[in-house]
Amino acid sequence: MKPVKIGLLGLGTVGGGTVNVLKRNAEEISRRAGRAIEVSHASARDLGKARICDTTGIILTTNPAEVVDAPEVDVVVELIGGVTLAHEMVMKAIHNGKHVVTANKALIAKHGNEIFAAAQAKGVVVAFEAAVAGGIPIIKAIREGLAGNRIEWLAGIINGTGNFILTEMRDKGRDFADVLAEAQALGYAEADPTFDVEGIDAAHKLTILAAIAFGIPLQFEKAYTEGITKITREDVTYAEELGYRIKHLGVARRTEGGIELRVHPTLIPERRLIANVNGVMNAVLVKGDAVGPTLYYGAGAGAEATASAVVADIVDVVRALTADPGNRVPHLAFQPDQLSDLPILPMEEVVTAYYLRLQVEDRPGVLADITRIFGEAGISIEAVLQKEPAEGEANVSLIMLTQRVKERSMNQALAAIARLDAVTGEPIRIRMESLG
Ligand code: HSE
Repeated sequence: MKPVKIGLLGLGTVGGGTVNVLKRNAEEISRRAGRAIEVSHASARDLGKARICDTTGIILTTNPAEVVDAPEVDVVVELIGGVTLAHEMVMKAIHNGKHVVTANKALIAKHGNEIFAAAQAKGVVVAFEAAVAGGIPIIKAIREGLAGNRIEWLAGIINGTGNFILTEMRDKGRDFADVLAEAQALGYAEADPTFDVEGIDAAHKLTILAAIAFGIPLQFEKAYTEGITKITREDVTYAEELGYRIKHLGVARRTEGGIELRVHPTLIPERRLIANVNGVMNAVLVKGDAVGPTLYYGAGAGAEATASAVVADIVDVVRALTADPGNRVPHLAFQPDQLSDLPILPMEEVVTAYYLRLQVEDRPGVLADITRIFGEAGISIEAVLQKEPAEGEANVSLIMLTQRVKERSMNQALAAIARLDAVTGEPIRIRMESLG
């Protein structure tokens, strides 16, 4: 049988890794797929640039449309990133009747509903394993491996750059900007690193996970997104003293009122395995009603780790070439006409416990005023820690852990606390999850 021909859009970190993995493991991959697979065409913005892969034998162009339109290309692999051009090329590939593999989380989170509808109508597959958690086969695990379960919740460390920064801050007391620069040099960070540190990249990935876990359309615009830029060394240290680690977590939970969809720094008890996921590694904890909690761990970014997921998708697509389109695994795990209209909960309706850090004057009655406000709001305090004032400082840090409360009540209580004369600066709050 003739080899399946791949048209690659983008020859950067993941594109280069994909060429290398396909070449190095060609024999085993073809034994798995049932056909040989070869990259026949590729596009790159700058053909003169040094590459991590050997492109001998590949027809190269700077125009991705030429790859998408090449009649010999069976599968288009989109690894250019960004949304505008990638969207245009993926829709063009579908229109041309070609299967698509993409690692583009922003594209799927924002335009996936349209892309999957178009692919369904054309009878082609759009595979996106590499879009979430790099090399971890989390899409396949939820979509196929856990298909017997009612998924109750999932929580993940799904941005390697953010986790790398938090880990280095905790372990080595390194500076935020310095660690970010290293993540960029290693090829982990997004082209626009604010996507990593402001939680946008994690929200893209969480949107995708929630859709396949709960059988809902992709709704990126409704995700609550908060990054790690306000986390200080102080908070990391106090959290540790209380037995917690601060992780940047994406949480999607089914509740009676709807789906929680939120990305924010979170205190997690340090005894949980996921609290000990460090560096650029990712992990996703998925709770199914039948299986219980399951944990998936691995490299969430990097050339070959991400290529591992891209190549697995290519193998799946090659196998699907011979399957009846009606019998393929649905893009969003549930049959397209069976998606649910469960609402995404507004953040004010979400219930969590909190870590709070207040800067207060060190005088009698201050703690009483604060606890009175919490009492009136029905917020129960779990622990209080008061730190000695730094030399020459009049203010002290007051750290409090609360029990679970609706975000709306916490917002109101913190607004009242911020108005107290004895409180200086904005109260710091970090949500907590027991993940039990
Ligand atoms: N910037 C992403 C991360 C790359 O750091 O996780 C993988 O999606």
